[in-house]
Amino acid sequence: MQIIRTKDYEEMSRKAANIVSAQIIAKPDSVIGLATGSSPIGLYNILVERYEKGDLDFSRIRTVNLDEYKGLGGDHPQSYRYFMNKYLFSRINIPIENTHVPDGLEKDSEKAVADYIKIIRSLGGIDLQLLGMGNNGHIGFNEPGTPLELEVACTTLTDSTIEANKRFFDKKEDVPRQAYTMGIKTIMHAKKILFIVSGEKKAEVVAKAFFGPVTPDIPASILQLHNNITIIGDEAAFSKFPV
Ligand code: GLP
Repeated sequence: MQIIRTKDYEEMSRKAANIVSAQIIAKPDSVIGLATGSSPIGLYNILVERYEKGDLDFSRIRTVNLDEYKGLGGDHPQSYRYFMNKYLFSRINIPIENTHVPDGLEKDSEKAVADYIKIIRSLGGIDLQLLGMGNNGHIGFNEPGTPLELEVACTTLTDSTIEANKRFFDKKEDVPRQAYTMGIKTIMHAKKILFIVSGEKKAEVVAKAFFGPVTPDIPASILQLHNNITIIGDEAAFSKFPV
């Protein structure tokens, strides 16, 4: 476990972008697992700048996203497909067919899960998985208590997640109650994990996740068992780490 402490969100994003850039340069056909939320936006902006300068080529990169709200299609502004197109895919030279996000419009959960498992397996393994973390320690949409052995899951969002994510919707009732997510098993099989965290709000849970017991109550704590994980966080997020 490598821990990198940064001054602020900006520096966190730059350091994380360096790791993603190095991966793309070293292996131009890498499979990269991507995340949504406010944490990776800075990193995506830097990748776009580097692409515009001619320093990065995404033409052979394949991506697989962590999660999607069940019930939202790609043209819904709060869907994660929409987010990815907006912040990254439409701004770089990745062929859109190389990008994968669970199908939020598939009503049959079993089918959605099976389809995404098939997609992930067909990619032949994730080289680098980017992760953020929810306020309750969730990764992807693996909420506390989600079984650890799933490749892909349909999960029910906890009230704390609905509360945290309602800021993006007109009202709380509009936040979908379920989501499709890459499961812990798939995340743990990624060759490398890049975990980013920022802000004081997550200080307590991130300290528990990496310095407390490994427990399904804090899904991110399982990452302690990964053999190639880099955690990049700003001072505020690391403020409750043991000295
Ligand atoms: C959502 C996503 C997670 C993400 C989390 C944190 O719940 N499902 O994948 O890590 O938000 O978001 P933020 O970075 O905005 O705090």
